[in-house]
Amino acid sequence: MSLSETITLPDGTKYEQPLGLFINNEFVQGTGGLIESYSPHSTKLITSVHAASAEDVDKAVQVAREAYNKTWKHIEPSDKGKLMWKLADLLEKNGEILGKIDAIDAGKPFENNALNDIAQSASLCRYYAGYTDKVPGKYTQINADKFVYEVQEPYGVVGQIVPWNYPLAMAQWKILGAIAAGNTVVIKSAENTPLSLLYFGNLIIEAGFPPGVVNIISGWGKEAGSAIASHMDIDKVAFTGSTAVGKLIQQMASASNLKAVTLECGGKSPCVVFEDADLESAVRHASLGIFYNSGQNCTANSRIILHESVHDKFLQLFKDYVDSNWIVGDPFDPKVTVGPLVSKVQRDRVQSYIDHGLNVEKLERFMGNEPVKAEGYYIPPTVFINVPTTSKLWKEEIFGPVAVVCKFSTYDEALQLANDTTYGLGSAVFSTNIKRAHRFAAGLQAGTVWINSSNDEDVRASFGGYKQSGEGSGRELGEKGLLIYTQTKAVHVNLDLEGSKL
Ligand SMILES: *[C@@H]1O[C@H](CO)[C@@H](O)[C@H](O)[C@H]1NC(C)=O
Ligand SMILES: *[C@@H]1O[C@H](CO)[C@@H](O)[C@H](O)[C@H]1NC(C)=O
Ligand SMILES: *[C@@H]1O[C@H](CO)[C@@H](O)[C@H](O)[C@H]1NC(C)=O
Repeated sequence: MSLSETITLPDGTKYEQPLGLFINNEFVQGTGGLIESYSPHSTKLITSVHAASAEDVDKAVQVAREAYNKTWKHIEPSDKGKLMWKLADLLEKNGEILGKIDAIDAGKPFENNALNDIAQSASLCRYYAGYTDKVPGKYTQINADKFVYEVQEPYGVVGQIVPWNYPLAMAQWKILGAIAAGNTVVIKSAENTPLSLLYFGNLIIEAGFPPGVVNIISGWGKEAGSAIASHMDIDKVAFTGSTAVGKLIQQMASASNLKAVTLECGGKSPCVVFEDADLESAVRHASLGIFYNSGQNCTANSRIILHESVHDKFLQLFKDYVDSNWIVGDPFDPKVTVGPLVSKVQRDRVQSYIDHGLNVEKLERFMGNEPVKAEGYYIPPTVFINVPTTSKLWKEEIFGPVAVVCKFSTYDEALQLANDTTYGLGSAVFSTNIKRAHRFAAGLQAGTVWINSSNDEDVRASFGGYKQSGEGSGRELGEKGLLIYTQTKAVHVNLDLEGSKL
């Protein structure tokens, strides 16, 4: 099977799409069959890429191990930084094409979504480029004779598995922190969205990275994903995806070589609006928090919790705002802000929640009554109101443009509702009383709290989950997103001053 193909995008752009596995700075044949990649807008096949078998994963790990031992380990931290600066420039230079690839492959609106992912990736790349020579350590004086210094060392070879909702950006969150900390990487893209990450392989070569530092494979979770999680020569695995799969990854990691694990899993984030909030601003943020990326976001604020005195007013403003700002349609149309869901499977899954809400639970649908008139895998922005906490739609992560709304009357009730979930990734609270907002933030069980905004992530701040949204201390982005790719070595030094004659 061929290793690349010329693809013509819907806007007429032609480009060369790599199809092989990217191992040792080369695109090579995979032996795990083929993965077909479809456009969720046209529903047509874009192309097929090579899938990695467990043997291919082995090969990639061997190459990454060799690169770690023979080259990457010996390159000065600041020189690693220079390569990453170059990579950031290349991400920007190739931003249009990378954005267009994510637009066709994942259905992300090109202008209003896909380009943001690339811009974020480039800033993160510069942020971590600057960290290569600033990995912090610690010094402790024990007594006059003794001291201890603690250094953060890379693990070695890191395996990474990324989801389909941010095909390029999620991969950058993982690759960049790991290589800046001095590791080499084997990363697997999601089955639905392999194309942009393969194209990124070109940039790794062009930036001048030594072969084997970054290896990119396409593959099925069951075969290639399992091979990574249970590999005996991978020192750490990082995964973003569903909580169910996260649990499996952790099991495989411990059953094999007890490799370190970082997990970023599901969410059911609350968005609480107090009676004194600036409603128009809250509406803008809350609608972004659920409809951006068609709600396919682990921090999507899918539970909107409104003070009873502003409930009706908020909903009216919300509907008006969404009708004129969250425009559903073709990802290549510059007006569009809500694209199709990533696949038929995902569309059907989201639709089954809506059907369950309507037909089984008899929930009240406030928005989303008109189906989208297009061929692709679309779901209109949908809101259910007066949803009880016993509802399946309140409890489970839907991962689509579907929000549930309920009312509260007291502060305590609001906090209880907000924390009433097995997840703990994001959360948002709106109030003009800044004291109350901070107190509420302290009570929320979530790794991220936004006060008077929602989902405005920043590469400098850590990101990760409480409860079943993560594995505890694991965080991405910020300094922590680099430190998760290091392990601590304490070196005890005995100067033995007493016994020595100077
Ligand atoms: C957030 O808090 C600030 C400071 O109190 C206030 O000016 C702003 O209107 C608040 N925003 C919302 C959405 O309530
Ligand atoms: C958050 O709410 C949960 C559920 O009501 C409660 O158990 C927990 O104590 C709350 N957290 C705080 C810090 O109040
Ligand atoms: C969606 O998820 C990503 C990564 O999980 C996060 O950076 C972002 O802030 C989220 N929200 C939006 C609106 O993109």
